[in-house]
Amino acid sequence: MRRLVWVWWLALALPVWAAQPVHARHAMVVTVEQNATDAGVAVLEAGGNAVDAAVAVGFALAVTHPSAGNIGGGGFMLVRFADGRSTFLDFRERAPEKASRNMYLDASGKATNESVTGYRAAGVPGSVRGFEHASKKYGRKPWADVVGPAVALAEKGFPVSYGLAKSLGGSAGRLGQFPESKRIFLRDGKLYEAGETFMQPEMARTLRRIREQGARDFYEGETARLLAADMERHGGLVTLADLKDYAVVERTPLTGTYRGNDIITSPPPSSGGPGILQMLGVLEGSGYEKAGAGSAAELHYLAETMRRYFADRAASMGDPDFVKVPLAALLDPAYIAQLRKSIDPEHATPSSQLHAGKPPGPESSETTHYSIIDADGNAVAVTYTLNFGYGDGVTVPGLGFLLNDEMDDFAAKPGEPNGFGLVQGEANAIQPRKRPLSSMTPTIVTRGGKLELVLGTPGGPTIINSVLEVLVNVVDFGMNVQDAVDYPRIHHQWLPDQLVMERGFSPDTIALLKARGHQVRMVGGMGEVAAIQARDGWLEGAADPRTEGTAKGY
Ligand code: GLY
Repeated sequence: MRRLVWVWWLALALPVWAAQPVHARHAMVVTVEQNATDAGVAVLEAGGNAVDAAVAVGFALAVTHPSAGNIGGGGFMLVRFADGRSTFLDFRERAPEKASRNMYLDASGKATNESVTGYRAAGVPGSVRGFEHASKKYGRKPWADVVGPAVALAEKGFPVSYGLAKSLGGSAGRLGQFPESKRIFLRDGKLYEAGETFMQPEMARTLRRIREQGARDFYEGETARLLAADMERHGGLVTLADLKDYAVVERTPLTGTYRGNDIITSPPPSSGGPGILQMLGVLEGSGYEKAGAGSAAELHYLAETMRRYFADRAASMGDPDFVKVPLAALLDPAYIAQLRKSIDPEHATPSSQLHAGKPPGPESSETTHYSIIDADGNAVAVTYTLNFGYGDGVTVPGLGFLLNDEMDDFAAKPGEPNGFGLVQGEANAIQPRKRPLSSMTPTIVTRGGKLELVLGTPGGPTIINSVLEVLVNVVDFGMNVQDAVDYPRIHHQWLPDQLVMERGFSPDTIALLKARGHQVRMVGGMGEVAAIQARDGWLEGAADPRTEGTAKGY
């Protein structure tokens, strides 16, 4: 008996070999940047709900994380209410009315880089209308209270972090091409150093107008007029009419199950939700997990599952308001069983042997995700973006914010690989008012009606696989959420036919994967997951150690 007590005491006293998430009893905010996390927590502590906090964080990141946080871009907000309802706000950018299928092809039919840099790369921004829609319909704090923290951050400034200083300096090539961006973000060449205060008076003025007049300012007022006039001066396509006409679409989230868990995820124009559900379907019942996390057999099976989804994604994905996305076929259990059967546990399937869909187009890894749970149990997952880091590089004089280059998420030339080697199909060709296909995958997991996990990440096409990996790390390998986020990741996107791996896997494992036929490419890092797990009466928040992200709760 004494020995039993001793063993029991040891089990309690010894530290567990696991990374520790941030613990809180009531509410949690996880974002990529500390001031934005603080803004979200402050709104929650002042009685706001998770949607209020999400709007406050969205505006705050537009100030403090200018590479991806934005009011000049767009994104997705997935909400799961404490009573079990859920909704998905699509505030993705839209192609301007004047956009056309071949607008980024030169006289010889070659894709130019106009979809990436400069005025013509911008789609009609959706973030401000998305946040207003969310706040009016689902928030409980006054609009001024959720825009206010961002106004203060822009007006009074905030200390530049090591990561921000590095990121701004690293983007001098892009930002330096546009005088207003160069002046604001590069201080005309006297680059910001960590610890210096970054004040943005033009952004503060724009945000004050939005605080006072709502989204009307951005889409019909002073901001809209300045933006449209500057667009016209520089050959951009976004007009006042495009801005006025921009509409948020509220969609039904995509749902499925995985080993008794309910998965609530992103519908098209996200290609991520369909991917998560198809890949989980392939994994469930395959026994892949028996090989153990990080083993060559497990990684091989994951990679083969990814390869197959990305081949499907290439063939058929686009804006569901314009094209028929064959969701039922992609998620059909018989089709999923056939995919599972086609995986050889010992050999990689060459991508050329999978059906010849037209692979998808260029996607940047510069996006950002945040996850929030409030004291009532409402959960929000937001992924939003300017597309490439610092968007198209353009800051409209007087407005202080960067514009997106989301037009590059369309297939400029369907069937041809883009800058990231992805090839996209006809379903994602450019059309006026259409939304480009996205990989953004805000996702929420529940079990028996109880909230389990809220997660998402930036990372272009790697988003879909990173969300999948964190999810199975928790569900299949019993990792706590911080371990699940920290764990090294892999990525396969069908074409190019290569298995991309982060550092952290053993050389033996990599050798075994090569022996199975994988072309391995090592990279520094993929994704910046922000996740929260609800477990044993606690909220456990995990920011990604690949970033300066912060989890904070109370
Ligand atoms: N711009 C990245 C994405 O939407 O997937």
